[in-house]
Amino acid sequence: MAVERTLSIIKPDAVAKNVIGEIVSRFEKADLKIVAMQMKQLSKQDAEGFYAEHKERPFFADLVAFMTSGPVVVQVLEGENAIALNRELMGTTNPKEAAEGTIRRDFAESIDANAVHGSDSASSAEREIAYFFGA
Ligand code: TYD
Ligand code: MG
Repeated sequence: MAVERTLSIIKPDAVAKNVIGEIVSRFEKADLKIVAMQMKQLSKQDAEGFYAEHKERPFFADLVAFMTSGPVVVQVLEGENAIALNRELMGTTNPKEAAEGTIRRDFAESIDANAVHGSDSASSAEREIAYFFGA
């Protein structure tokens, strides 16, 4: 397994719940290093560009509205197998189906406000890291 980097976002619902530290702590306990971190209020344009792959989906407008509803914490995680490991720590997109002990199971309420984002592949990790942090 190779050392990888992946993009993680702590979404507005989790920031509002005051669980930034608890979520970051899960990454650290899993041996993922925070190598970049930024708290940010996304503009509509930021959110639309970030989620461009979903722009034809019926939930797109609501997703953009949610992602711009308050500040987020954007971070780059680094470690062995970081992309898949982060997805595992997050749990499934729908928190109601997420495994026990996952971030979404423990901190998220619904599929549209689901606490965290994580890159789903090496190519999306590369694109998403560059989107927020440049080359
Ligand atoms: P997706 O990339 O499918 O999920 P994930 O975040 O697990 O990679 O979808 C992106 C976000 O869009 C998802 O986190 C929440 C939102 N979304 C909905 O609101 N409704 C839906 O039915 C889906 C599939 C996603
Ligand atoms: Mg996704």
